[in-house]
Amino acid sequence: MIDLLKSRKSIRVYDTREVEQNKIDSILKAGMLAPSSRGLNPWEFIVIKDKKMLHKLSISKQSGSAFLANVPTAIVVIADTQLSDVWVEDCSIAAILMQLQAQKLGLGSCWVQARNRLKNESEWTEEYIKEQLKIPDKYGVCCILSFGYPNQDNQSHKDFNANAKKIHNEYF
Ligand SMILES: Cc1cc2nc3c(=O)[nH]c(=O)nc-3n(C[C@H](O)[C@H](O)[C@H](O)COP(=O)(O)O)c2cc1C
Repeated sequence: MIDLLKSRKSIRVYDTREVEQNKIDSILKAGMLAPSSRGLNPWEFIVIKDKKMLHKLSISKQSGSAFLANVPTAIVVIADTQLSDVWVEDCSIAAILMQLQAQKLGLGSCWVQARNRLKNESEWTEEYIKEQLKIPDKYGVCCILSFGYPNQDNQSHKDFNANAKKIHNEYF
């Protein structure tokens, strides 16, 4: 597990190869195997390969989303906010499991933040994404995950000892 975690880096540049459907299915399966509060599984996933829609998503934020215009596949992680009051946590766990499964399959991935971000001075990223993807009102958008075969220098995390300043024993 540590080796997998060390090898995972956010990948924003991909080659043009499509991601095979069986790999997308396997990534979705990893998401749906995530633990969730009270086992409510509030998450749902929208798989996007259409270039026009990927371009629309690439302009969903003031920064940090432009690379989506050139990714082979994105999965938008959403949840029914009326089903669970901790849907953000549930979606985040599902998302990282999907990223790790992608890593295991030889793919790269990157998280693009949707909540609490602005498209421009007057429009929220989340509202824009919901409008583009026809997502019902009661849903929240956690993030957009990109997936594809990496086409960038992929340096692993360096080996390190656990940062002692971050670890507290018994009390803070
Ligand atoms: C909650 C969260 C939000 C993020 N938002 C973005 C984003 O909007 N755009 C982006 O390019 N990367 C985003 N990232 C990726 C981070 O920039 C990246 O994980 C961080 O710099 C560490 O690099 P690494 O993933 O290569 O280890 C996000 C990551 C997380 C966990």
